[in-house]
Amino acid sequence: MRISVFGCGYLGAVHAACMASLGHDVVGVDVIEDHVALLGRGQAPFFEPGLPEMLQEALATGRLEFTTDASRAAGCDVHFVCVGTPQKRGENAADLTYVRTALTTLLPMLRAGDVVVGKSTVPVGTGEDLRERIVEVQPDAELIWNPEFLREGFAVQDTLHPDRFVYGVSDTGAGRRAAGVLDEVYAAALADGTPKIECDLATAQLVKVAANSFLATKISFINAMAELCEATGADVTMLADAIGHDARIGRTFLNAGVGFGGGCLPKDIRAFMARAGELGVDQALSFLREVDSINMRRRVRMVDLAREVCGGSIVGRRVAVLGAAFKPDSDDIRDPPALSVAAQMQLQGAHVTVTDPQALDNARKKWPELAYETEVLAAVAEAEAVLLLTEWPEYVALDPTVVKQAVAVPRIIDGRNCLDPRAWRAAGWTYRALGRP
Ligand code: UDX
Repeated sequence: MRISVFGCGYLGAVHAACMASLGHDVVGVDVIEDHVALLGRGQAPFFEPGLPEMLQEALATGRLEFTTDASRAAGCDVHFVCVGTPQKRGENAADLTYVRTALTTLLPMLRAGDVVVGKSTVPVGTGEDLRERIVEVQPDAELIWNPEFLREGFAVQDTLHPDRFVYGVSDTGAGRRAAGVLDEVYAAALADGTPKIECDLATAQLVKVAANSFLATKISFINAMAELCEATGADVTMLADAIGHDARIGRTFLNAGVGFGGGCLPKDIRAFMARAGELGVDQALSFLREVDSINMRRRVRMVDLAREVCGGSIVGRRVAVLGAAFKPDSDDIRDPPALSVAAQMQLQGAHVTVTDPQALDNARKKWPELAYETEVLAAVAEAEAVLLLTEWPEYVALDPTVVKQAVAVPRIIDGRNCLDPRAWRAAGWTYRALGRP
């Protein structure tokens, strides 16, 4: 099939490459010239394992191109809208400017039978508005809402082998025909038995924000338990293991620590609350305000714990922070717990040095006042406290004896509960963690 992808960020670039790898002809459209140029050379503008290889393979077949010229999308049968929906400045609501602009660009190109597929995370109701605009201009084109659940770090695998497809389809002949077209796009994964849920437009838009709200709630639940554990001397990791054995609860997304960040969970729960307010059902989601607060409190607690460990003051103390990205296997520094803690400590008088395997270039641009080192041992040199805030495998595997030789005082705070306390204590470290004695 001939496919266009509007927006070549984390979602769109991966989607475009994966669709081309499945044999479709794909044109990726974006307004950022540098990103388009990089993608066209088979380089990803961000760190995503497996993506450069997939881009290079797909580009070599001649089935994939990236452009800033949106008119190249004319003649495509299926148009994916993958642009970002960031949080509005000073508000909880989502900014839909990019979605609306993409559609305005697309409208004059639509031919009878074309299918527009919405993938961006939007407030429920957006899809219905977009569909109205489409059928007004081209009555024989159709819109499907097909949310994307990919995780950064696993984006290629999640796109090629999703755990489910959700199609939000209008209850019309055109809707059913459009669903058939999307089935052709996803033929390979559907043939492998990937479940598909076909529903109305509103449900499909809600599925995405409901899923992210559930995940955020799960993380904040265990972080709330961590607060209880801190007050009672209990161990939140053992608590998570024990409740996680209950199949109804499950152990995934129960890792207590410095909390969630990134370009999705924080802004999605806020946009969801804002939308619920507009719909007059804000009470239904008032618990998400608490989910957000619990999450943010963990960052404050981390700074307090560092102060406690340093003997009551961090002023003038040398502190090393391991990790900058919002999670491992990513260079994404949107709302990153690690850098948020690092910046707070710096503002409160500590001398903070940050290291990260992938995110340092991005971090330097946004937080130029922090010091950065590419090597762990250089970052921890003469440190009076080390904070592990993003659980990159290389940090989890650090040898406490080796690291001890570099620091001034062997104090470690495990902000992700990913180290073995016994090993670190046995090597002579003061080990502290969130939610653990
Ligand atoms: C998320 C959703 O998982 C994905 O389905 C959706 O499409 C986009 O948003 P992503 O933002 O890539 O994906 O990150 P995710 O793996 O969900 O992690 C989010 C944050 O939660 C990270 O900061 C991570 O460190 C934190 N987290 C995750 C925890 O603090 N504890 C956990 O147990 C799990």
